Amino acid sequence: MSDVDIVPIKAEIAAHALISREKYDLMAAQAVAEPEAFWAKEAKRIDWIKAPTKIKNTSFHGDVSIKWFEDGTLNAAANCLDRHLAERGDQVAIIWEGDDPGMSTKVTYRELHEKVCRLANALTAQGVKKGDVVTVYLPMVVEAAVALLACARIGAVHSVVFGGFSPDSLANRIQDCNSVALITADEGRRGGRKVALKTNADEALKTCPSVKTVIVAQLTGGKVDMQHGRDVWYHEVTEAASPKHTPVEMNAEDPLFILYTSGSTGKPKGVLHTTGGYMVWASFTHQYVFDYHPGEIYWCTADVGWVTGHTYIVYGPLANGATTLMFEGVPNYPTTSRFWEVVDKHKVNIFYTAPTAIRSLMRDGEEPVKKTSRKSLRILGSVGEPINPEAWHWYDRVVGEHRCPIVDTWWQTETGGILISPLPGATALKPGSATLPLPGVRPVLVDGEGKELHGETEGNLCIADSWPGQMRTVYGDHARFVQTYFSTFKGLYFTGDGARRDADGYYWITGRVDDVINVSGHRMGTAEVESALVAHEAVAEAAVVGFPHDIKGQGIYAYVTLVADVEPTEALRKELITWVRKEIGPIAAPDVIQWAPGLPKTRSGKIMRRILRKIAANETDSLGDTSTLADPGVVTDLVSNRAG
Ligand code: WTA
Repeated sequence: MSDVDIVPIKAEIAAHALISREKYDLMAAQAVAEPEAFWAKEAKRIDWIKAPTKIKNTSFHGDVSIKWFEDGTLNAAANCLDRHLAERGDQVAIIWEGDDPGMSTKVTYRELHEKVCRLANALTAQGVKKGDVVTVYLPMVVEAAVALLACARIGAVHSVVFGGFSPDSLANRIQDCNSVALITADEGRRGGRKVALKTNADEALKTCPSVKTVIVAQLTGGKVDMQHGRDVWYHEVTEAASPKHTPVEMNAEDPLFILYTSGSTGKPKGVLHTTGGYMVWASFTHQYVFDYHPGEIYWCTADVGWVTGHTYIVYGPLANGATTLMFEGVPNYPTTSRFWEVVDKHKVNIFYTAPTAIRSLMRDGEEPVKKTSRKSLRILGSVGEPINPEAWHWYDRVVGEHRCPIVDTWWQTETGGILISPLPGATALKPGSATLPLPGVRPVLVDGEGKELHGETEGNLCIADSWPGQMRTVYGDHARFVQTYFSTFKGLYFTGDGARRDADGYYWITGRVDDVINVSGHRMGTAEVESALVAHEAVAEAAVVGFPHDIKGQGIYAYVTLVADVEPTEALRKELITWVRKEIGPIAAPDVIQWAPGLPKTRSGKIMRRILRKIAANETDSLGDTSTLADPGVVTDLVSNRAG
């Protein structure tokens, strides 16, 4: 990788940027030397009901305890709404752009405040109380933002489940946290198609007795079954509710939300974020990373079902009084010009998307981009997976016309917000590098034994000290939290990613070093796909690995051993793919299934995934040491029958 490929800070950006290189250096130094003073000052970006006097109380050792601003009280929704009313009540808070290009709406801060108050009152009327968990299973509609903020307003903990997840996945995520209510819709719309959300929810709820209330937003008017005594219409309960509501006073460390994410083992974990630190981090990072100036139109293309949608569509932008765009659709519907048409239509200044979207649009060439103006664009962002230099340059040249800095933002569901990223006015860019840590973030690279590596090096990416936006625990399972993130390398938060640090101290994320794969920027545990496969009656055993995929970054490659007497047919292959889609959701569908009469195992029975990854990547001439295999013949067979 060449380090000479440096894109300097743009003078016209630097002239107005909030943070210069000098300021960044000062902030970074102070945040590490005097974290209490630094974060006490940054905490003032949030309106506290009672200002915190205790700032940081964190330990990555022993039982691991993370507390920020612990004696402060606040309400997250009030920070996103009420405090803006006097100054910008009539400013647009959310621009909603429908899947259908003919549909869009604008919601001002005052209107959003009213919608949130009404739903907050409606939730209370349904018996939802502070501390209860409410699951949200909605598409990209304004009601999704309203649902999050209404929960926050009454102190209920929201748990958003991506609308693309199956009934089973939804059910698991409801059962794990015992949600008392579900907010969903009749149907969603995506790319001209309908998604049967209510039908999925009904299926899921058969095994979820904790849910007493289902609030259903009417989006398409499609026919749905309403269960008497359980299901109510969103429009009816909000119309009946008062538009006035006093936000509930929450402690900084009271839970704000749970978001399930895949790990290398077992079922998805409920990542728990609390109120004060998360809000400070969301506001701080949104303002500085995107160099957000008042009045700008900001668009993050993520879905609210993922953490990016939480922090960078809802909480960060709204805490900062921004205008945030919510897009219901997909990049290629009705045409592959859609993103850029929306940019022109709403005069978007800051655009934040995923490398997989860029790569898929690249396939259609430059014309669909070039026929649009895009002259409103000022800053471009990337998130979710490493951006390959080819996609970076296309984004820079074709979309941004060399005018817009690209902020390649590295972070995770667990980190609450961005940790490593360029700042537009402060950081010279290197295509493919997330560059430098934000103030207060202390990345370290360690070898397999946990020994810290210094200078120019490559290793496991850990973070040495806490930052306010860090997750606090795995919901209901603190031992798993400690085990997953703090036991591999003592005293460090382990990210699960590998990274290289170059001579300038820039970080280059190399991808996951565990059994998590990143498909189109979505995290998938190989174990989850494997357990879905073995749940099929024809499957005896399955092993799943990631492999390089041109568009998705990584694809899903499944090795499947069938039970005795079942014939491997094309029909069965298709059936298994459909099966996984149904069990987990379309994002988990294997790209390749290879029939495997046997799997490569050590003599102690452990599957050697290293070898399976090599075969999937078609790197069969570098399989490495196979001497510990119980039966080397298995590998010969897999190599000669490689699929895909
Ligand atoms: C990967 C998404 C390289 C990484 C915000 C991380 C990235 C996982 C980048 C978290 C980036 C995210 N460069 N890799 N800019 N951003 N990742 O929890 O492997 O869905 O651990 O959070 O995505 O995915 P998650």
